[in-house]
Amino acid sequence: DENQTCICSPVLADEWTADVVKSIDALVGSCVVLPCTVSHPGTYLSTSRLRGIWHRKDKWTEYFYHEDSTKILDSFKDRTKLLGNLGQNNCTLEIVQVKDHDNGPFCFRVELVRKDNNEPTKEKFSFVEKCADIKMIHDVPKPKLGPIKTANPGKPYTLTCSVHHTCPSHRPQIKWSRENKDDEITEVHKPIHSGIWEAESILSFVPEEKDDESELICTATFNGGMKSEEKFTLNVKRIENYNHIIIPAVAVAATAVIFGLFCVLMVKKYNMWSRMSGLSRK
Ligand SMILES: *[C@@H]1O[C@H](CO)[C@@H](O)[C@H](O)[C@H]1NC(C)=O
Repeated sequence: DENQTCICSPVLADEWTADVVKSIDALVGSCVVLPCTVSHPGTYLSTSRLRGIWHRKDKWTEYFYHEDSTKILDSFKDRTKLLGNLGQNNCTLEIVQVKDHDNGPFCFRVELVRKDNNEPTKEKFSFVEKCADIKMIHDVPKPKLGPIKTANPGKPYTLTCSVHHTCPSHRPQIKWSRENKDDEITEVHKPIHSGIWEAESILSFVPEEKDDESELICTATFNGGMKSEEKFTLNVKRIENYNHIIIPAVAVAATAVIFGLFCVLMVKKYNMWSRMSGLSRK
């Protein structure tokens, strides 16, 4: 009996260990990758000696993944794949076209098979204490744009758009609304922690004054076709022009000078007049 073998296994299971992500978000309609590593005692075992299976936690014969695809649950047929190489201790599972009811928990099981007939030996382990739960996400994650700063005309400007996801095998694509041939785009893809990844696109360009107030849109397209976007209005500094200060200042100064000259002239005239009238009084 298959189940009994497994129930007996915890005694030996001290030596066989698996590390499976506990909980992971998955975007419904997209894909998800469950990270998993397995290690066994003794010497190296090639992939052909190991059989990796993913099954339901409470029903060990309900297979989410099995190398014999006829054994896989109908609802998971053609949707699961062992991405990891068992010979390299990697039991990572990929699920595509995630459905709302794809709730596990998903447990990994390893069987050591005989070399001659590919039949399982007594060494089989179901790691039912370390199963993965999938949390379904319905809202497409919005990308993040930054840093928001004012651009200087003629100076290089860099903007980053990034989004987190859980499907490194079919990562989201990030596109920009700008389509200038001199723009430079760098793509970065990196793990954040336990199954969560970040896809990032870095846009570099040299803004001109006419780009002021222009709208920049960054769109993330997830596997499965779901899209989300983030917008940003570019601010480009004006090239400084002081005419609006210089012209009035010159006008005020000129007026003051003319008025001053006028006053001096009037004082002189008055003095002359008073001297003349003084003379006449004498
Ligand atoms: C396991 O395999 C996946 C898919 O090939 C890979 O992305 C991941 O880095 C591997 N994990 C380890 C620990 O090597």
